Amino acid sequence: MSPVPDIESVKKEISTAILDSPEALESFRLKYLSRKGIITEMLAGIGKAEPGDRARLGKELNALKKTADSIFKNAQKELASSLGKQIRATDDPTLPPPPFPAGSLHPLSRTLDEIKSIFFQMGFTVADGPELEDDFHNFTALNFPAEHPARDMQDTFFVRKNEHRPEEDLVLRTHTSPVQIRLMKQQQPPLRAIMPGRVYRNESITAKSYCLFHQVEGLYVDRHVSLADLKHTLITFAGHLFGSDLKYRIRPSFFPFTEPSLEMDIWWQTGNRSGQWMEILGAGMVHPNVLKSVEIDPETWTGYAFGMGVERITMSRYEIDDIRLLYDNDLRFLDQFP
Ligand code: PHE
Repeated sequence: MSPVPDIESVKKEISTAILDSPEALESFRLKYLSRKGIITEMLAGIGKAEPGDRARLGKELNALKKTADSIFKNAQKELASSLGKQIRATDDPTLPPPPFPAGSLHPLSRTLDEIKSIFFQMGFTVADGPELEDDFHNFTALNFPAEHPARDMQDTFFVRKNEHRPEEDLVLRTHTSPVQIRLMKQQQPPLRAIMPGRVYRNESITAKSYCLFHQVEGLYVDRHVSLADLKHTLITFAGHLFGSDLKYRIRPSFFPFTEPSLEMDIWWQTGNRSGQWMEILGAGMVHPNVLKSVEIDPETWTGYAFGMGVERITMSRYEIDDIRLLYDNDLRFLDQFP
């Protein structure tokens, strides 16, 4: 028979036990209070004690059991209330977690991705250029006359302005057309690329205009590229982006770097609003002076170019009426594009 533990040492043990977890609580219960527990066995052993001792032993052991019971119950209560702070009884831990606030693509990125994928299908690659440009790439090589209004302080953010030597001016590019120049300087025709990117205009900020926006430029230079090729490309593109039942019109226009130049409008009508013509892009046949500025022979090569505003297209497709919403990064707005 195992030695009978003495009451005093058990009392000491139970009153110093650390019951700070459900596991500790359960092992306390098993060790002292269960059917095979120390105190239960001590109680069962009373019958084997000297008859004269039984009454005293019974009293002491019952008191010990009571103490152990109340230590157990108090610890159980305390533990439940501290755990309760972490998990409320009403919580169902088997439920799926609340949705994690994941980000999503910005509406401008969505439009840009779609525009890119349409042109990829038509065999265009992507070219890139810097946002800080010199006067040559942003204006001169693109056949801008010296007095052209786009060169004006009102439109252009000058990073470096030299009154006497305008060729040393540095500007935030006002359009993506300088990337055409860079591409034609780097590679010989045939060339077929789109050039997406940020552009900057020193205009007052309103619901319709912002100091920066995005354009996608397009350039195709080859032998025998014609205006018919340009029109076909633009109509195919717009049909993919806006749907094949699209109503469009192509108007004559003017840009220094294209001749002839045109603009494309689409008929835009959403819900029960009255429809309207909306200009989506400018385009034209690359001006011979532009080809000459990059040492491409305009007798051998011809090309077309186009440029479109990503903001304008995005705003019409998602019925956004203030361009500033695209730049505020307000989650109440962005959450609408999950
Ligand atoms: N660069 C012109 C603009 O910013 C758009 C354009 C590009 C027009 C290419 C014709 C050809 O308005």
